[in-house]
Amino acid sequence: MSERVIPLIDQRLVNTVARIPTTPVAPTGLLGDALGRPLRDLRISVTDRCNFRCSYCMPKEIFDKDYAYLPHSSLLSFEEITRVATQFVAHGVQKIRLTGGEPLLRKNLEILIEQLAALRTTEGRPLDITLTTNGSLLKRKAAALKAAGLQRVTVSLDGLDDTIFRAMNDVDFPVADVLEGIAAAQAAGLGPIKVNMVVKRGTNDHEVLPMARHFKGTGIVLRLIEYMDVGATNGWRMDEVLPSAEVVQRIHRELPLVQLGAAAPGETAERWGYADADGKHDERAGEIGVISSVTQAFCSDCNRARLSTEGQLYLCLFASQGHDLRPLIRGGATDEQLASAIAAIWQGRSDRYSELRASLPPDVSTGTRRVEMSYIGG
Ligand code: GTP
Ligand code: 5AD
Ligand code: SF4
Ligand code: SF4
Repeated sequence: MSERVIPLIDQRLVNTVARIPTTPVAPTGLLGDALGRPLRDLRISVTDRCNFRCSYCMPKEIFDKDYAYLPHSSLLSFEEITRVATQFVAHGVQKIRLTGGEPLLRKNLEILIEQLAALRTTEGRPLDITLTTNGSLLKRKAAALKAAGLQRVTVSLDGLDDTIFRAMNDVDFPVADVLEGIAAAQAAGLGPIKVNMVVKRGTNDHEVLPMARHFKGTGIVLRLIEYMDVGATNGWRMDEVLPSAEVVQRIHRELPLVQLGAAAPGETAERWGYADADGKHDERAGEIGVISSVTQAFCSDCNRARLSTEGQLYLCLFASQGHDLRPLIRGGATDEQLASAIAAIWQGRSDRYSELRASLPPDVSTGTRRVEMSYIGG
């Protein structure tokens, strides 16, 4: 029997309007939250729509033809997004990830990428600009994205078995087309490419090894993600989570692995390299990553802020409330005021949901009040 949880209220309506602090907070490039975590990574959702219906993200039963997506007038324009992003960069952001829904569904996205590519970090360096995509439109768009200034892409792919993949995306989309999209991204130089696979025990866990074999030695980094209790609609159950420790073991048995150090502070993935005959990392064979939000939370140095399609700032993937920046953006706030408002919100941040998961009361941990990932992006 299905155990789906239907949201009782539209989370998009319960946000608080961001406040402009009475004392301005000038950006210094180093902004700490209440737990001392810096702001480094901004994820911008550019659309709440997607052409896939992955059951762990946008189940068909909820995201059907009657689902009320955001009207165009609600979306931040590219100029508005760039203006907000500029303030985030002044506060220390170094990486921008465009997400959705499916970001390549947003018309003329290249124009936004060009605007963001012109920004510089507080140390004067270009930003790391990347994009998460389901790959369906990548073949058509890879070259233009690269020309606009996109550096790399991360493609979601949950298996190589066509029947399983078509069932997981739930719109009968073939694996071959995603693989062609990945090849086009590689040809366009959008690397290093990462492939994100959400592992659901009993659904696609037997695809872990075929995926590892397929991407080993290609320069593409496969990342295996624990199925998370994000959003309020996917009917998450712990018994469908395959712990990353088991994923690593399964791969290691056939393709020996060695653990690698973190490439950057606060990163989501634990890195494992393919080993050579001496048990050392064979760089030509490459590496994988495991993302263990459920069994090994990584909140302690989480430096990620999320901006929704209509301008709500979310401080955690599991937040039930955002901070609405749009009234400031559209209401005549100056850049200084906008920067101060962002600073005050980040300084008040103490979110660490994944660490707290186990001790939360049941109504929170069953997710009836959480925002959907398709709305704020992964
Ligand atoms: P790179 O810069 O390429 O390393 O990307 P990333 O790992 O920072 O971002 P990506 O969007 O590829 O993250 C991969 C997956 O990790 C997402 O799809 C989520 O499932 C999960 N994830 C990302 N950020 C967070 C986070 O802040 N909290 C939790 N709990 N999970 C996250
Ligand atoms: N658990 C883990 N990852 C998820 N994603 C979406 N929903 C979930 C979930 N419930 C991530 C996947 C996908 C990206 C767009 O969002 O990594 O590739
Ligand atoms: Fe679309 Fe990605 Fe969500 Fe799948 S996981 S429904 S591809 S946004
Ligand atoms: Fe960051 Fe929230 Fe994810 Fe923890 S659960 S890593 S605080 S987004």
